[in-house]
Amino acid sequence: MSLVDILNSYTDEYWDFKTSKNEGIHKIANYPAAMVAPMQRELLQLLVNENKNYRSMLDPFHGSGVTLVEGQEVGLEVFGIDINPYAHIISLAKLEKYDPQLVESANTNILSNIAELKENGGWEPHTFDNISKWFRKDIIEDLSVLRTAIKREQNATIRRYYWLCFGEIVKKYSNTRTSTFKLHIKEQEKIDGMENNVIKDFETKIKETYGLIGYPALGDFHLECGDSNSIMKQMKNEIFDIICTSPPYGDNGTTVTYGQFSTLQLLWIDENDFDYDISCIENYSRLDSLSLGGTLSKNNAFYYPAILSEYVAKLSPHKRKKILQFYADYENSFREMVRLLKLDGRMVLTVGNRKVDGIEFPFSEINKELAEHYGMKVEYVLMRNIINKRMPQKVSKLSDGKPVESMSKEIILLLKKEG
Ligand SMILES: C[S@@+](CC[C@H](N)C(=O)[O-])C[C@H]1O[C@@H](n2cnc3c(N)ncnc32)[C@H](O)[C@@H]1O
Repeated sequence: MSLVDILNSYTDEYWDFKTSKNEGIHKIANYPAAMVAPMQRELLQLLVNENKNYRSMLDPFHGSGVTLVEGQEVGLEVFGIDINPYAHIISLAKLEKYDPQLVESANTNILSNIAELKENGGWEPHTFDNISKWFRKDIIEDLSVLRTAIKREQNATIRRYYWLCFGEIVKKYSNTRTSTFKLHIKEQEKIDGMENNVIKDFETKIKETYGLIGYPALGDFHLECGDSNSIMKQMKNEIFDIICTSPPYGDNGTTVTYGQFSTLQLLWIDENDFDYDISCIENYSRLDSLSLGGTLSKNNAFYYPAILSEYVAKLSPHKRKKILQFYADYENSFREMVRLLKLDGRMVLTVGNRKVDGIEFPFSEINKELAEHYGMKVEYVLMRNIINKRMPQKVSKLSDGKPVESMSKEIILLLKKEG
């Protein structure tokens, strides 16, 4: 049976994965809009079953690394890029290999170090601009104890796993609300009423996480933290068999503020244990401004689909500018993805059509037009209801006060590069 025949044999509801949750390794950290792991696994498995020569996969917007882990599970060598250092830290923790004996003795060691620092002092107080707005004084002290203890660990791989655990504790005990991905201070009453279990929770977190990482411990992986367009531009032509990704559906500021969601954790984590440019968090909005469609982007598009021109003509000038800026960045990414894909290679794009000015942004149709323009065959289109993905309902407000609505469906485009 051909791939298309196999896909035709599934029911429409199948792809909703109604009862599936992201289990196991995917639970180690929180990140917005994580992909549904069993769905990614199934799609990738179908591709590698159909073409036994597929060996490598790129996800140029990997987020929390769901697709990278599932790619490894089906035997692919995986390559990932994301501009957000927190996405990089999470994905690295999922993909790195750990020596169980070393981790177990390091865990015993760090817990006694923490107890010793807590009792006798000697920890380095950590600070950054506005720290006391986002963290209570006793929480800053306990987080500083943990930070000092992590820095004392000798093994860099183990330290990176601790930073991931620490990042989750930082987020939990910050004064920001959990109801939004944006940094938004909690009511004073809630801040004052928060029970401080920082040290105990870190202990639980490292134990739980250790039970999940190191699995699947499969093939090679390569991760880079930075702008996909710049990184992809430095890669050779036709090097990947599969490109499987869920790109941003719009600029971060008005869709999902991945940057704001991550900045507090990054202000605490020691950047020296990772390879990223710390200037991306020099203020709370910089990471979002550097991301696709952000105010700091400078790309021009080579090709404008008719459907995009029709769409932007209906928008207010402010939103028109934002959409065109996002489109220009995305078109550059699309072109690069096509260039990096081998002949007969497959691209799997999970996209959503959000509403801007109350009008649906036809991102899936734009992708189809881009595919045709750049020599990719649209082999199959799947539509699924978003059931288990953490997405904001009303995502954000622009300066005119009107919300940009989020979406409840996503579209999966299966594209093939033909000669
Ligand atoms: C939809 S999420 C990806 C979801 C992901 N597939 C998962 O499993 O969690 C989009 C990602 O694109 C990243 N991103 C936005 N602009 C970028 C850029 N210019 N270069 C690299 N990554 C970027 C964001 O940081 C975010 O993590």
